[in-house]
Amino acid sequence: MSIVHVIDHPLIQHKLSLIRDYRTGPKEFRELLEEVASLMAYEVTRDFPLEEIEVETPITKTKTKVIAGKKLAVIPILRAGLGMSEGIIKLIPTAKVGHIGVYRDPQTLKPVEYYCKLPTDLAERELLLVDPMLATGGSATACISFIKERGGRHIKLINLIAAPEGIAVVQKAHPDVDIFVAAIDERLNDHGYIVPGLGDAGDRLFGTK
Ligand code: PRP
Ligand code: URA
Repeated sequence: MSIVHVIDHPLIQHKLSLIRDYRTGPKEFRELLEEVASLMAYEVTRDFPLEEIEVETPITKTKTKVIAGKKLAVIPILRAGLGMSEGIIKLIPTAKVGHIGVYRDPQTLKPVEYYCKLPTDLAERELLLVDPMLATGGSATACISFIKERGGRHIKLINLIAAPEGIAVVQKAHPDVDIFVAAIDERLNDHGYIVPGLGDAGDRLFGTK
């Protein structure tokens, strides 16, 4: 079974409260989401291996450490995942970026794929799949399946807010994929929205409603 990591650092909790507030407009929402994603990346990358190199300081030569040439790709689930990927890429600018376009059919709540462009060497990369919301788990489960069908093996899922129902669905379908979240909320409502959640992440990020 996969591990669910709740990254509840005080800075993340504080910013998440501002993100949840309905009065927070798209500009602040975007900035806060990016900041929280950066803070989460700090924990998500904690197990990255290091290697020793030699550098020369103004004083002397010394052995020091750098991340061991790990190949990484960040994969936002469109649209709302874009708001998180920016924050991660800022910290890891050499990461490749793939995109998967999925929307949730409002009637069936089933995911519909409309776009997929991923790095070709997926199998060799550590893959960070990002989306602020894990609700029914349908979108994330489908995206992980697309990635695996295209050769991806080492996948971590990063969400801002998850519903217990969504976590259970992803864990059942993909027990090899660890999940990193800032908060696990109470439940889903009858429309598949997370309660208390933050509303529709894509609409709040892009101001489309
Ligand atoms: C939202 C969210 C997830 C999905 C989660 O996207 O960003 O991708 O819903 O729901 P699920 O776990 O029940 O599948 P949405 O379908 O609203 O698309 P958008 O980002 O384009 O607005
Ligand atoms: N998608 C969202 O954007 N918000 C939810 O609460 C559930 C799915």
